[in-house]
Amino acid sequence: MDLQNKTILITGASKGIGRALAKMLAAKGVNLGLIARSEPELISLQKELSALGVEVKIFVGSVADETFVKAVVANYTQIDAIVNNAGFGVFKQAENITTSEWDSIYDTNVKGTFLFCREIVPVMKANGGGHIINVASDVAKRVFDGGSLYCSSKYAQDAFSMALRKEIRKDNIKVSVVYSGLVDTHFHNLEEGDAHQAEYLTSENMADSITYILSAPKHVVIDELMIHPMSQDY
Ligand SMILES: NC(=O)c1ccc[n+]([C@@H]2O[C@H](COP(=O)([O-])OP(=O)(O)OC[C@H]3O[C@@H](n4cnc5c(N)ncnc54)[C@H](OP(=O)(O)O)[C@@H]3O)[C@@H](O)[C@H]2O)c1
Repeated sequence: MDLQNKTILITGASKGIGRALAKMLAAKGVNLGLIARSEPELISLQKELSALGVEVKIFVGSVADETFVKAVVANYTQIDAIVNNAGFGVFKQAENITTSEWDSIYDTNVKGTFLFCREIVPVMKANGGGHIINVASDVAKRVFDGGSLYCSSKYAQDAFSMALRKEIRKDNIKVSVVYSGLVDTHFHNLEEGDAHQAEYLTSENMADSITYILSAPKHVVIDELMIHPMSQDY
């Protein structure tokens, strides 16, 4: 599908995978709605991408904030796709996880995805279809020591996505989930490009994969995409 002049929302667009995806889609003529909490990063990205001649709206706030999410979606009568990408991890033994860490991970990784889907589905139904892409992780399908909080949030995000897919396929709304291994981003509390992450996937590798999913012909849906760096066991 030609992406030119489509309208696509990306959550978690200030850094990492979301930022790289915004750049890739803008170069293809996509009009963007970019969502994150860091205003300076969004403003600089908006300046850079608007120069390419596409419309770039930015929305500063948390995906976990219901009022904010409703206000973002209210700006649109047509949304061709959303990439629910905002997310982060806390990695600790379960006995050491605080309640506020638990809540903040679930609020972002699970509730954030739910809120945007809930608000956008009626818009997509009214327009005869659309595409929801949820960025999960390979840990939506496997667990590890120290991963009880992050892995369970990604399992929940994935289960929500799978059930949603069954609900809205008849409305011509695609639901795709991306399961990735290690990506060289701020996620790991290191600078992008840090030597420790040299063997990881790059944000651009992820942006490429998501662009591929978005570009599938109208009658084709890539329901799931699993991607790893060759350096990571699977
Ligand atoms: N990096 C990896 O190895 C890896 C592997 C598998 C899956 N993933 C998934 O990939 C997604 C993107 O992560 P990344 O690797 O690109 O990490 P990143 O560089 O840390 O970027 C995370 C993005 O999410 C945004 N964000 C976090 N909490 C938010 C909130 N409450 N509301 C709005 N935006 C929020 C951040 O922006 P602000 O801080 O400005 O809000 C930032 O733009 C996440 O869902 C992550 O779980 C990453």
